[in-house]
Amino acid sequence: MKTIIEALEAKREAARAGGGEKRMAAQHAKGKLTARERIELLMDEGSFEEFDMFVEARANDFSKADQNIPGDGVVTGWGTINGRIVYVFSKDFTVLGGSLSATHAAKIVKVQDMALKNGAPIIGIFDAGGARIQEGVESLAGYADIFMRNILGSGVVPQISVIMGPCAGGDVYSPAMTDFIFMVKDTSYMYVTGPEVVKTVTNEIVTHEELGGARVHASKSGVVDGAFENDFETLAQMRRLIDFLPLSNREQPPTRPHYDDVTREDASLDRLIPDNPNKPYDMKELIEKVVDEGDYFEIGPEFGKNIITAFARLDGASVGIVANQPMTLAGVLDIDASRKAARFVRFCDAFNIPIVTFVDVPGFLPGTKQELGGLIKHGAKLLFAYGEATVPKVTVITRKAYGGAYDVMSSKHLRGDVNYAWPSAEIAVMGAKGAVEIIFRSDIGDPDKIAQRTAEYQARFANPFVAASRGFIDDVIMPRETRKRIIRALMTLKNKKLENPWKKHDNIPL
Ligand code: HXC
Repeated sequence: MKTIIEALEAKREAARAGGGEKRMAAQHAKGKLTARERIELLMDEGSFEEFDMFVEARANDFSKADQNIPGDGVVTGWGTINGRIVYVFSKDFTVLGGSLSATHAAKIVKVQDMALKNGAPIIGIFDAGGARIQEGVESLAGYADIFMRNILGSGVVPQISVIMGPCAGGDVYSPAMTDFIFMVKDTSYMYVTGPEVVKTVTNEIVTHEELGGARVHASKSGVVDGAFENDFETLAQMRRLIDFLPLSNREQPPTRPHYDDVTREDASLDRLIPDNPNKPYDMKELIEKVVDEGDYFEIGPEFGKNIITAFARLDGASVGIVANQPMTLAGVLDIDASRKAARFVRFCDAFNIPIVTFVDVPGFLPGTKQELGGLIKHGAKLLFAYGEATVPKVTVITRKAYGGAYDVMSSKHLRGDVNYAWPSAEIAVMGAKGAVEIIFRSDIGDPDKIAQRTAEYQARFANPFVAASRGFIDDVIMPRETRKRIIRALMTLKNKKLENPWKKHDNIPL
C-alpha cells in the first residue's frame, strides 16, 4: 500500500510541476503567477479540489516526447469563495503555452457542465497561446464545445473571464460570451489576430499593448469590464465581485450582515445639486452616500464614463446601480454608455438583482459620429433592456430627465416600479433655452424676450411636479432621505411577480 500511495504522490507531484521549474521561473519573471498559484489566491484557503490532474494529451506525431505533461495545460476544479461554491479553470502557460488540445478542452467542458448542473458560477483564467497547433481540427472542435457551454450557461450561472497573459485566436471568444471580462495591466493582452498578422494583412504596425492591452480594452473597445494592476489585485477583486452575485438564476441575490442604519439620512445630499443647472457634480458621491457602508463594485469604470454601472448592497442585499454621470459629457447617453448599461441591466435581470437607477440625463448625444455609428440601434438596446426587465426597478431623478432619455432611464412607462424625483428634478422634452428657441423662433433676435420666455418655461416645466401630477413620479423626496426611501421601496418589491409574454427569445436590437 505504501508504494501505491507514494506512486500516487509522485504522479501528483509531476502534474503540479507543470512545464517544469524553468518555465515556472520564466512565468514569475514576467510578473505573473502560475495557474495553481492563481487558484490558491482566488479560492478560500485549502478549499480547492482539482479534477483531471492525470489527464494527458492524446499521442500526437508532431509533439515532442517531453511535452506530454499530466494536466495538459489547464488546472480545473472547484472551491469556495467566502464559503460559496465556484468552479474554476486556469490555463497553465508553462505547459505548451497553455494551448488548447482536445483533452484540455474536455477538462474545461467538464467543469462548465458541472457549474451549469449544480448552479454555481464559473471563473476562467486565461494565459495561453490559442489552439494547440499540433492538434489541428480537434482543437477547433474543442473550442466550439466550450463556446456551446458558454452560450447555454449564459443567464443561468454567472460566467467570469480573467485575462492574465496572452489571449488570442480561439481563446478570445469564450471570454467574449461570458458575463464579465477583467484583465491585468501590462502582462495581458487580448486580440483575435496579433500584431504580426495585422502587419501582413493591413500594413499597420502596432504593439501588443496598442492592439489588445488591458488599458485599450477597458477604456476604448469596452471589451473588458475592468483592468487591475497585477495578478494579486485582480484575484482579490474577483473575490469581491463574486460576493455580490447569486450563484445561479435559480437563487435570489445574496445578503450579508451590515452595520449601516437603513434609516440613515445624509443632509449633505440636500446640497449635492449645484444652483447652476449646467454645472456638473459627482454622481458617485450620491452612490457612496446611499449604499451600505459606501461600498460598491464598478463594472466598466473606464469605458462610457458618462454612465456608471455598479453592484452595491442595500440593507445587506445586492442591487445593480445604473446612474448617469454629469461629470462626463454632462451624463449624456451615447453609443458606449447605452451598450454598457444595457448589458448590465440584462445581467441584473437574468440574475434576479434589483436595479436602482439614478437619473440626470440631458438626452442622447447629437452628431454624425454617433448617428453613423448606429446610436439609434445602440440607444434602443438600453431602452429594450429596461423595458423587458422584470426585476424590481427603483428610479430616482436627481436633476435632468429630458426627452427620449427620460423614457429610457427606467421610467414609469417602462414598468419602473417606484419612481422618485428630487425637488431639483427637471422632467421635460428638452432644456428651457432649447425649447424656447424652437417654440419662439421669431423672437430669437430679441434676447430680453427669449430670456423672459426661458424663465417662464423653466418655471412651468423644469420641475418634477408636472410628471408627479400625472402619476409618472410616485413622490418627490428629500435628497437626504434617498437611502431610506429606496430601501423601503425595495422592501415592498421583495415578492414582485411579473412575467413577459411567452416567446422563444426576444430580438433585442444587436
Ligand atoms: C502549441 C504552443 C502554442 C500553440 C505556444 N506554444 N503557443 N504550443 N500550440 N498554439 C508553446 C511554445 O512552443 C513554447 O513551448 C511555449 O508554448 C511558450 O511559447 P513561447 O512562444 O516561447 O512564449 P512567448 O514568447 O511568451 O510567446 C507567447 C505567444 C506565442 C505570443 C502566445 O507562443 C505565440 O504566438 N503562440 C502561437 C499563437 C497562435 O498562433 N495560436 C494559434 C491561434 S489560431 P516550449 O516547449 O518552448 O516551452 C487559433 C484558432 C482557433 O487559436 C479558432 C477557434 C475558433
